[in-house]
Amino acid sequence: MAANKLCCTLVFGALLCLGLVALIQAQDKPVTDVCLGCICEAISGCNQTRFCGGGVCGLFRITWAYWSDGGKLTLGNESPQSEDAYANCVNDPYCAANTIQNYMTKFGQDCNKDGGIDCYDYAAIHKLGGYGCGGELAYQYQTSLQSCLNSFQQLDVRSGP
Ligand SMILES: *[C@@H]1O[C@H](CO)[C@@H](O)[C@H](O)[C@H]1NC(C)=O
Repeated sequence: MAANKLCCTLVFGALLCLGLVALIQAQDKPVTDVCLGCICEAISGCNQTRFCGGGVCGLFRITWAYWSDGGKLTLGNESPQSEDAYANCVNDPYCAANTIQNYMTKFGQDCNKDGGIDCYDYAAIHKLGGYGCGGELAYQYQTSLQSCLNSFQQLDVRSGP
């Protein structure tokens, strides 16, 4: 019963995340909206309060180097050279999600060597970077991601992780 409730909370949270990112999803982007929503859920509880700390910013907890490798996207007409360009972009769900898509287009790879590139790989790259994604992930991050992806599989949403 408690597990059921937890599952619902997770599904609800992830759906909120999905609503945020679904609109910006396009065909040529490697990461599905379910996967983006679950990374968001796992890494920050998809907390949209403006945040910078410990070298990361935003609801996806993106570093400056990640943002830079992701194409230095900016909000509106802001210059990438602007001091706030990074924090402003990665605190915006759309700009952050597009940064992730660019980053994964560049660094997408089979981190866990299971023969395919899926959300588990993208989540590892997101957390560990493009050059160390075979490493260990924090237990909390891994289990939140897993339960989020599981709840979507149970809902039979027509897009796999
Ligand atoms: C969201 O993040 C802000 C800033 O870090 C924090 O103060 C707040 O408690 C968080 N909200 C939730 C629901 O975790």
